[in-house]
Order: sequence, then C-alpha cells, then structure tokens
Amino acid sequence: MIPQETITQIFDTALIEEVVGDFVTLKKRGVNYLGNCPFHNEKTPSFTVSPAKGIYKCFGCSKGGNSVNFIMDHEQLTYPEALRYLAKKYGIEVEEEELTEEQKQKQTSRESLQIVHSFARDFFHEQLTKTDEGKSVGLSYFKKRGFTEETIERFQLGYNPNKWDTFTSKAIKEGYKLEYLEKAGLTKVNGEKQFDFFKGRVMFPIHNLTGKVIGFGGRTLITDKKTAKYFNSPENEIYNKSKVLYGLYFAKKSIVKNDNCFLVEGYTDVISLSQTGLENVVSSSGTSLTTDQIRLIKRYTPNITILFDGDVAGIKASFRGIDMILKEDMNVRVVLFPEGEDPDSYAKKLGKEELEKFIEANTNDFIRFKSDLLLADAADDPIKKAELIGDIISTIALINNEVKRSLYISQCSQLFEISEKALYNELNKVLRKNFTKDNKIPKEEAEAIPTFTYKEEEKKSTDVRSCKHQETDIIRLLLNYGNHEVEIKTENQDGKEEIIKVLASEYLIHELSNDDIAFENRAYQDIYETFAQSIEKGEALDPKSFFRSDNISLIETCIALTESPYSLSENWKNSHQIYVTTEDLRLMFALEHAILSLKSKKIELHILDLQDKIKITNEEEEMIDLMAEQMQYLELKKAVAEKLNRVVLK
Ligand code: CTP
Ligand code: MN
Repeated sequence: MIPQETITQIFDTALIEEVVGDFVTLKKRGVNYLGNCPFHNEKTPSFTVSPAKGIYKCFGCSKGGNSVNFIMDHEQLTYPEALRYLAKKYGIEVEEEELTEEQKQKQTSRESLQIVHSFARDFFHEQLTKTDEGKSVGLSYFKKRGFTEETIERFQLGYNPNKWDTFTSKAIKEGYKLEYLEKAGLTKVNGEKQFDFFKGRVMFPIHNLTGKVIGFGGRTLITDKKTAKYFNSPENEIYNKSKVLYGLYFAKKSIVKNDNCFLVEGYTDVISLSQTGLENVVSSSGTSLTTDQIRLIKRYTPNITILFDGDVAGIKASFRGIDMILKEDMNVRVVLFPEGEDPDSYAKKLGKEELEKFIEANTNDFIRFKSDLLLADAADDPIKKAELIGDIISTIALINNEVKRSLYISQCSQLFEISEKALYNELNKVLRKNFTKDNKIPKEEAEAIPTFTYKEEEKKSTDVRSCKHQETDIIRLLLNYGNHEVEIKTENQDGKEEIIKVLASEYLIHELSNDDIAFENRAYQDIYETFAQSIEKGEALDPKSFFRSDNISLIETCIALTESPYSLSENWKNSHQIYVTTEDLRLMFALEHAILSLKSKKIELHILDLQDKIKITNEEEEMIDLMAEQMQYLELKKAVAEKLNRVVLK
C-alpha cells in the first residue's frame, strides 16, 4: 500500500509534459504541447499535452489521462507499479505502510518462492545452452521445431537434465530451502530421497505481468503414450493458474498496439506465432479458459480472436470460451485452422505475410462460426435447425449491450432467413429466463415481469430512448463552468425581487435536485454527486481533482468533456475570435437551456414508458391510473416545452 500523501506528492511532482516528454517529442503550441501519438501510428500530430490540467489527450485514437495513466498505458504497468515508476524517476521515497505479522510471513514466503523460480529459470537455461546433454537433447529439439536462438533467449527456455536430482542437489548446495523447492513443485520428496520433478524435460517458464517467473511447463521428449506430454507447476502463493496467461508478459504491448489478442492452445503455439511476427498472442496453458484470464486480456483490448485447430474437443471448448468472453462484454472472433494444422505448424509453413492473409480471410464472428459448424450437422432437419438457432440466441443473450445484440439479431435473421421479430421473441424468452434465474425469482412470479421491449420499430430508435446528449451537456457545463458565478433572481423575505450571485454548479444542482433527476450514465452520476457533495459542504470543487482519480473511465469522461479539438490551436482561436460567441458569455442561457432540455427529455422518456405499460396491461384499473399519469406528464411536457421555447427565443 502506498500512502495517500505519497500519491499526492507523486502527482504534484510528475509534470505531465516531462513524463510524456521521455517518450514523445513534444512541441509547444500555445498553452499546450503537441506531438505524435505513441499509441497509434500517425503522420500529423494529434497528441496534445495540457500542463495546466496535467493531462494528455490524443484526438486521433482518443486515448487520454494523467501522468500515471500515461505510464500505465505506455509501459503496460498496473496503477501501483506506475506510481513507483514515477516515484523513482523523481527521487520520491515510497514508504510502504506497515505490514502485519501475517502479511510479513506471506511476503517472505512469496519472495522465497520468487527467488527459487528465478534460480531455476537461470539454471535450466544454462543447462540448455551450455552443457553437452542440454545442447544435444534439449537445444536440438527446440531447433528441430524451428525455434531461433533469439526466441529461445526471449522466452527463456530451458532443460532439466535427465538424472535424478541434478537440479535439486545444485539448488540445495546453493542454499535454497527444500521447503520452497518442494512448494514450487520443482523437487519431489520421497522419504529421505529428493528428485527433480521435471527430469529430462524441456522447460517453458511462465511469467507474471512484470516478467517474473512464477511457474513452469515441462515437455517430455519421449513419444510414449504413457508419459504425460506436459508437466505443469502446482499452484502456490505466487502461481494461480486461473489468473495467468502464458505469453501475456511478452504480448501486452503488441496487444495494445493491434487492439486485439490472439488466443491459442499451447506453449508452442504462442512461441511460434510470436516468432513469426504475430506477437499479440497468449494461451491459457494447463487450464481451460477462465473469467479471470479473460479480464486480464480486457485490460489491454476488448477484442479476442481465438485460433484453433479443428478437433472436436477444441471446438467444444471454444464454444464455452466464446460464451465466457461475450459475458465479459468483449468482442470475440474465431479462426479455424485446416485439418491437421495448428497455429504452431501453420505459422512455420506460411510465414508472417501469408499467415496474416490466412487469418484475415478466415476470421469469423461467433455467429457465422457456430452456424457454419452446426449447420453442416443440421442440414435440412428443421428440428435440428431450430435447436441451432436456439443455441445461437442463448449466446447472443449473454451480450450485455443492447445495440450489439440487435446487430447480431439482424445478422442471424439474414443468415437463417427468419424474421427479426421471431428472433426477438426467442431472445426475450431467454433473457427473461436468465433474469429470473439470476435473481432467483420463482416461476409463478416470473410471468409478471414485463416483457423486454424489443420491437422492430424500436430498434431503429435506440437513441430516442436515451437522454445521453442532454446529460452530456449538463456535465460538460458543470466541469467547464461549475465555478463561474451567475446572477439569478430570487425573492427575499419581504417578497421583493432580488438578484444574487451563485456558482453555476450550485444553480444547476439546485434545479435538478428539485426534480430528483438521476443520470443514466454512471460516470456522469459520479461527477454530479461529487459536485453536489462539495456544494453541501460549502466548498468550491476544483474540476481538476477528477483528473487525479484512479478511475480511468472517469478521467476519460472528464477529458472528453473539457477538451474540444479547437483548443488544439491558439492560432485558430485568434483568427476566428470575432465569430466565437463563447459559452462563457452566455452561460446563464446555456445553463437554462441544458436544464430544460434534460427535464424535457426525461419527461418524454417517462411518457414512452407509460405508453409501453398501457399497451401490455390487462388490468382495467391499472390502465386508468396509467392513463391519468400520462395526462399529467403530457401537461408537464407542454409546460417545459414552452419554457424551452422562451429560452431559445431570448
Ligand atoms: N497440456 C498439458 N498437459 C498435457 C497436454 C497438454 O498441460 N499432458 C497443455 C499445455 O499447456 C499445452 C496445451 O495443453 O501447451 C496444448 O496441448 P498440445 O497442443 O498437446 O501441446 P503443444 O503446446 O502444442 O505442444 P507440442 O506442439 O509440443 O505438441
Ligand atoms: Mn503443437
């Protein structure tokens, strides 16, 4: 744990232009700096750094954040790692908060395991490259498989000699404790005897995100059905199989750059693909894909492409993987390799360019992939076909995003020549079933849950049902002008009109909280509440404090709303000055307009809701109540519209 004061000190010291300047050549442009974006390829610079706000923002690829975010993104570090990096750069001492006895114990154990793994990695690598047995057995095997020396170095491959205890006795002699050798799974103890678990195997070190070795896979060189092809390290304090992806340490930069991650089955597939030049590749070696592993990838990209050879077991596993990936709100595509080939063999056969072409031509989205495979099975059998459609609909139902879901539904509709309406009916059934299951609602009550409103005419108007634009306007005003003063008319105690000055944020929040307005957008609601709290405390809130949040999506939201591409160039502003009527000058107008627009939209949405309910209710009494409410809201809508008109006419 890094103490909060230290974090503040780091933020205060690490000037954004210096931090970014280590990696990007920046040129001064007015109050900002401009350079070529390090996160995407570009010829004309669109990467801006604002020293005043302490942030960077690319108008090309829309990446943005504070100094810490920049280091996290550029160096692919976690939040605490990035803080330590900056502390080191600026000579700030990071005093970790005191650990408890138990934490200390754990830390020693972790550290010891870590040291044992580093030693083992170096030992196995040396055996592979420097000893006769290693060279003639291990190295020649890797070479035969086409691994270059560079690859062998990069992935730190090794060899455990084929005698009982070469590794163990050396480790003990060097002072490593048997307890940790055993815990690491490198040594097996049988009574008095100790021997090497990975004896006679070539070794694949498994790295964590910072490049430390935390486990091994060891492949036998014997082709004997009785010998397990791979041995894998057991789990311990530093190695949790379900939270590690083989190759991720080497792949992360490339994953970010390509905004995609290839997922393969094994160690050798990762290494071959990477050597061929497709470096954004990982595998879930030793386990079937887990949700934690998917979330690891999500830190770098929302896109996964599964590459696999077409054996039956693989296909089944891929179906399960697809569903899991979709559930995590990620995009999944699939490439099926020709029979008898896996990514490893095919990469060697084709080379980089041809392989890339093959992948591009054979990448399918999951619907096409599933239906191609299953349709061949179903042929003209209508029952099987219906089952297949049901299967695909269940997968679509896992997607959390309504817009994406509707896109897949229309694709399905074309593919199977079935009306979207029918598919939506199916989808609704599944969604309702999942909903009742997830919320443990008994079957009898499930009937009462209102139908999900996926109707064809509504699909075109998903935007009509959202007040995102209006919410954005309000938050943009809060962030940019929250601390500006505006004059408002009120009545004093004697009932006389009086003009007082308040902060724009105060005015906005007062107006909105009167009507209990909440924001659909999570980040917006957070920003709004933070302002509301500071007003309650009677403090002015510095919007800059949002840029120091550890919540990157909040920072991104704030940047998007406070930076307009026009602030890029001071020249532009100067030469166009005459024509720019700034919002600042017309702030009161802008505030009123934004408030009324949001209210009006909220009312409209509520009316649409009521109309839906009126359509589906069977109860006369309920219907009458709903109609009455609808009347009230229609009146309200009229009143707000009139006010809005007046503002616009002003
Ligand atoms: N695996 C395992 N234990 C086994 C077989 C396989 O843990 N007995 C895991 C390994 O992580 C392996 C992956 O499953 O990398 C895929 O298996 P396979 O395709 O058989 O191995 P490859 O890595 O392709 O190895 P090779 O090309 O040397 O056969
Ligand atoms: Mn293989």
